[in-house]
Amino acid sequence: MPTIRAGEQDRITWNKKYETEACLLGKDPVDFLREHIDILPKGKVFDVAMGEGRNALFLAKNGFEVDGCDISEVAIKKALELAKENNVRINAFVADLETYTLPKDTYDVIACFYYLQRSLIPRMKEALKAGGVIICETYTVEHGDRGFEGPKNKAYLLNPNELLNLFRDFKIIFYRELVLNNKKAIASLIARKEGN
Ligand SMILES: C[S@@+](CC[C@H](N)C(=O)[O-])C[C@H]1O[C@@H](n2cnc3c(N)ncnc32)[C@H](O)[C@@H]1O
Repeated sequence: MPTIRAGEQDRITWNKKYETEACLLGKDPVDFLREHIDILPKGKVFDVAMGEGRNALFLAKNGFEVDGCDISEVAIKKALELAKENNVRINAFVADLETYTLPKDTYDVIACFYYLQRSLIPRMKEALKAGGVIICETYTVEHGDRGFEGPKNKAYLLNPNELLNLFRDFKIIFYRELVLNNKKAIASLIARKEGN
């Protein structure tokens, strides 16, 4: 039997999810992004593992120039359609973030929602311009421990203070860990890359 590479397996799994649901994650942006859009520096943004484009759409509507990628070509097709329906342009493309090389010193903002790939953190930092900002939110181990619906594999869940510590070399603008509505346990961060 032929073996399937890890990335290929992710692509198959996510394509299946996106094919089954008309809109898997909804068309509205993550609340944390909506609530903090005004403090993000305007310019070029990269939406990491963008899914069906709910956050990319919101960023484009708010005047950002949006690049974004996802491993699922089904999700990318839906993201491009969503942008078209809303008369905005986004540069959405298929890429496996395990291997994709982000351009250095390019982005004013990096948005990373509900996707945890620890090996990507140094590459995201390099991809930001000096003064650029990362906005990020995803599940913590508490999410799995409490048996909430969603990811259970600890490899994809943040440990206490982990997200904060991953960005100690940045200026922390906002950080929190909390349980929301007894439904999800998350960590959220906004941090700026200092320097000239
Ligand atoms: C929970 S969804 C979050 C999507 C989006 N960030 C949002 O908040 O709507 C996780 C996404 O990661 C993508 N993904 C998983 N592994 C990936 C990889 N190796 N490279 C790029 N995207 C990947 C999936 O296809 C999926 O769209």
